[in-house]
Amino acid sequence: MIRFSDEGCGIPVDKLKKLGVPFYTTKENGTGLGLMVSYNIVENHKGNIHVISKVGKGTTFTISLPLSVSSKCLQPALQ
Ligand SMILES: Nc1ncnc2c1ncn2[C@@H]1O[C@H](COP(=O)(O)OP(=O)(O)OP(=O)(O)O)[C@@H](O)[C@H]1O
Ligand SMILES: [Mg+2]
Repeated sequence: MIRFSDEGCGIPVDKLKKLGVPFYTTKENGTGLGLMVSYNIVENHKGNIHVISKVGKGTTFTISLPLSVSSKCLQPALQ
């Protein structure tokens, strides 16, 4: 689990569901693609991203990724 916290402007509740939607941005020069790419990368690794935020206080993104168990590690248990 990786957690990123900031003490920025925060994200209003009604805007949280827009995170990761292509081209959604509130920045003058933003592409609105940063989170879409991030969500795709984490999803491709079978993980997920959870966001909590308070307007005027800040935001925390939590990325959870599953542990991978290689077949080599499993073999001794199977014998
Ligand atoms: N940590 C944060 N605090 C406040 N708002 C955020 C935060 N992260 C994302 N947002 C909001 O989500 C929007 C979309 O973010 P996203 O990273 O997808 O695009 P962007 O940052 O606007 O553009 P780019 O990634 O091209 O710089 C941002 O414009 C901003 O409104
Ligand atoms: Mg961004």
